[in-house]
Amino acid sequence: MVPYFTEKFGNPASDDHLYGSQAKKAVSQAREQIAETINARKEEIIFTSGATESDNLAVRGVAEYAAENDQGNHIITSVTEHEAVLEVCESLEEEGFEVTYLPVDEHGQIDPADIEDAICDDTILVSVMAANNEIGTITPLEEIGQIAKDNDVYFHTDAVQALGYVPLDVEELGIDLMSLSSHKIYGPKGIGALYVRRRNPKVKLQPLIQGGGHERGWRSGTLNVPGIVGFGKAVQLAEKNREQRIEHVESLQTQLWERLSDELDDIVLNGDLDNRLPNNLNVSFLGVENKGLVQNLQPEIAVSAGSACTTGKVEASHVLQALGGDESRWHSTIRFGLGKDNTEEEIDVVADQVINAVNRLRKLQIN
Ligand SMILES: Cc1ncc(COP(=O)(O)O)c(C=O)c1O
Repeated sequence: MVPYFTEKFGNPASDDHLYGSQAKKAVSQAREQIAETINARKEEIIFTSGATESDNLAVRGVAEYAAENDQGNHIITSVTEHEAVLEVCESLEEEGFEVTYLPVDEHGQIDPADIEDAICDDTILVSVMAANNEIGTITPLEEIGQIAKDNDVYFHTDAVQALGYVPLDVEELGIDLMSLSSHKIYGPKGIGALYVRRRNPKVKLQPLIQGGGHERGWRSGTLNVPGIVGFGKAVQLAEKNREQRIEHVESLQTQLWERLSDELDDIVLNGDLDNRLPNNLNVSFLGVENKGLVQNLQPEIAVSAGSACTTGKVEASHVLQALGGDESRWHSTIRFGLGKDNTEEEIDVVADQVINAVNRLRKLQIN
C-alpha cells in the first residue's frame, strides 16, 4: 500500500499519464485478486467504503430499482442480520416496502424452507448473511441460492465474516450480490466491495452515491487506491493461507472451550456447534454480568460483551435475543474472536483470567 500514498499518488480516473495509469493498473490487479477468490469477473466487483455501504447498496439499490420498474416490493431477510441490512430494511418498510424477517432456531440457524414459504409474486430479494458476526453460525448458502434461483429472486449475502474461512464461490452458491470488507481479513479499514452479478441474471440496482460515474456509475467518488491495493493483497493472502489459518484458530477455539468448560460450571456455548466459524467462541457465563466480567480482565484482553459494531447499547444484542431463552443469559455473554497471530500461551492467559474473574464474581454474589 505504501507507494500508493506517496510516489505512486495518481488517480486511476486520470490515466492519460504515467501516474494515473499506474494507479489504474494497481486497482485493476486488486479487482482481479478479489474476483478470482470468489469465482467472479473483474467487472462484477464494486469498491465501496466497507461492508456497511455494500449492504446498503445491495438492499436499497435493488429495492429502489425494482420499485421504479414495478417489479415488486417484497424483501426477505433474517432477524440476525447485521444492522447494515436490518436498518435499511426498516427504512424501506417506512417507504412502503414489505419485509419478512425470518426467525432462527436456538443455534441461530435459519430454515431454508421458511424462505421458500415466504417468497411471493412481489419478492425481489433474499438477503441472508453467510456467517453471523456474533455467534459464528454458518448459513447453508447453496440451498438458499438454489431457492432464490428457482423463484427468480436475487440472493444477496453479507459475507464479511465468512471471507477467508468459508469457500465463497458465487457460481456454486448461486449468489447474485455479496458484501465483503477488508478489515476482517487483516486488510486496511474503510474499504470493502460489493459483488454484483452481471450474467444469469444481470442484477439491476440503483446507485446510492451519484456523481462522477466511477465504478461504472454504481459508486461515484475517487477510488481509495491504497485501501484497494491493501484489500486485494489481504484477500490474496487470506486465500493462500486459508487451510493453515483455519487449522490454527480451530485448535485455539477447542483449547479455549475445553479449558472454560472443564473448569467452570454453568456456562453455555451459543451458536451452532457444527456449522460454526473456527475463529468464534460465544459463551454465556450464567449469573455473571458480561460488562463486569470484561472490566475484571486485563485491558489487553480484547473480548467483546455484545457485538463490536454496536457497543454502547445496553440491551442484549438482537442476535442473542433471537436465539430465545432467558434474558439474563444474554447479559452474561462474551464473544471471543480468535486471530491468526494468537498463540496457545495467550489462550491460557485468557482462560486463567476469565476463570478467575467468573469465580470471583460468582463468590461476591453469594456473599
Ligand atoms: C457481518 C457484518 N456485516 C457488516 C459489517 C460492517 O462492515 P464495515 O465495518 O466494513 O462497514 C460488519 C462489521 O463488523 C459485520 O460483521
